[in-house]
Amino acid sequence: MPDPNDRRPRDMDRAYWDDVADTYEDEIFSVRDHDTAGLIEERVTRLADVNHTAADLGCGIGKFTPLLARNFGAVHACDLSEKLLARARRVCRGFANVDFRQTDLGAEPHPFEPVDFVLCVNVLIMASLDIRLRALRAVTAQVKHGGHLLLVVPSTESMLYTRFRMVDWSLRDGYDCETAVRENLPRAGSLRSLYQGVRAIEGVPTKHYLREELQVLLGDHQMEVLETRKLTYPWTTEFDDPPDWLGSPLPWDWLVLARRT
Ligand SMILES: C[S@@+](CC[C@H](N)C(=O)[O-])C[C@H]1O[C@@H](n2cnc3c(N)ncnc32)[C@H](O)[C@@H]1O
Repeated sequence: MPDPNDRRPRDMDRAYWDDVADTYEDEIFSVRDHDTAGLIEERVTRLADVNHTAADLGCGIGKFTPLLARNFGAVHACDLSEKLLARARRVCRGFANVDFRQTDLGAEPHPFEPVDFVLCVNVLIMASLDIRLRALRAVTAQVKHGGHLLLVVPSTESMLYTRFRMVDWSLRDGYDCETAVRENLPRAGSLRSLYQGVRAIEGVPTKHYLREELQVLLGDHQMEVLETRKLTYPWTTEFDDPPDWLGSPLPWDWLVLARRT
């Protein structure tokens, strides 16, 4: 198991996202492809209205944008990376109701007029508290009063739980406690980062959230949380060759549906 702290950390800035444009599918986890229960699609279609406008904030290569285009009258798709936007534009060629805009949510508080429905999937994951809070303000301000936000973010609980399963796995394999801990938990890395829910994934510091943290943060931004639930993934998303006995509970992201008050 590689130690995530062995790699030089990279900021999730525009250069980072431009750089992954050509190899995006190999490097970036696709929530769309792993949401096999269709939790996101179910909520999008439930809240769909052809007279309403939606926004895909941090649309990436446009995994969710066609879903929004089919269900809303107009869609704004924005992303920090012009290269990713170019790919999203190609994916949405067949839709006349989508407009694209290069936007830095950490710098531009109102890329569009507030809309009825905002989808924001694994975008508020930057390690910088300052940039992240500004991006959260932009995302929530983009929702009309009475409109909805569907947010997906990595889970801190799932991150810690997965580490527990790794240590437990080593113990079952016969390792002693000291070795199981040493082999499975990062040697380095700051406690300050961990307390903020920031953990390096493939060398890139990535923000994870607690369920209660989301409740408080969204409440502070005029959002009433209607639902928080696990978006679970198979163990193959964490390990190359997971044994069947790993079973449940599975790892997860948080899926939050909130309404702007
Ligand atoms: C993990 S990808 C998710 C893409 C897409 N939402 C999906 O689920 O397929 C995160 C996306 O957020 C975008 N992003 C990161 N920081 C951003 C910012 N400050 N403003 C706008 N987009 C940003 C990245 O360019 C990237 O496309």
